[in-house]
Amino acid sequence: MTQRPYIVGNWKMHGTRAMLSEARAIDRAAQRHMKVEVAIAPPYTLIHPVHREAEQIAVGAQDCHEHDGGAHTGDISAAMIADAGGKFVILGHSERREGHGEKDALIRAKAESALAAGLRIIMCCGESGETRDKGNAVAFVKKQLKASLPKEIEEPVEKLTVAYEPIWAIGTGKTATLEDIAEMHGEIRKLLVSLYGEEAGSEVRILYGGSVKPENAAEIIGTAEVGGALVGGASLTADSFMGIAMAATESVEG
Ligand code: 13P
Repeated sequence: MTQRPYIVGNWKMHGTRAMLSEARAIDRAAQRHMKVEVAIAPPYTLIHPVHREAEQIAVGAQDCHEHDGGAHTGDISAAMIADAGGKFVILGHSERREGHGEKDALIRAKAESALAAGLRIIMCCGESGETRDKGNAVAFVKKQLKASLPKEIEEPVEKLTVAYEPIWAIGTGKTATLEDIAEMHGEIRKLLVSLYGEEAGSEVRILYGGSVKPENAAEIIGTAEVGGALVGGASLTADSFMGIAMAATESVEG
């Protein structure tokens, strides 16, 4: 893996302009951690303000609509995100799949729309606790991912990141075992190679998400096939988020 570890903060529905000082602190700290790529996805309302302030980190969105524009009250298109300074979009998060009934085909349409608007995508996947307990986690995630990813992507290494986020690990303090993470990421890697070819698939970063914190980041990011972390709660303060970036830096330096 020659790509830098990618540490992405998903602020979810947290953050008003008062949080801009935190974004500035993250940006300043990221300038001291150049071996790691740091990015944040704040709510839509903060994309442009964060973009204006940030010198080092990329800013992105947590979702986009599948169409470029039109009569879609309350929705935001990928082109609007790009216009606001967004460079990427998180798609297929389990909170969108559950809370908004998003299905794989819709998520694929959003991914295609985002790529057409010049955004990079972070495609999320993950199983429920029940699916894992039944021993079906790998099969479920591969099927979900295959149906959600675009059929073709030019330069997947540049444009695509995958995030494996077991639903039962999100915001619960529970994390998957390192063995389970390695197994799942290895299977996702095989899928990416089968979809996009050996060269294209072998360098796409696969992030782990679900209760990543400064205390557990080093061992998770040091696990086989883990290319970084998608962080929720611990991305809301510069101290804890950059603690994770520091752990990733140490994993690169060995
Ligand atoms: P937590 O880090 O709060 O568990 O959230 C993970 C997540 O959903 C990131 O997208």
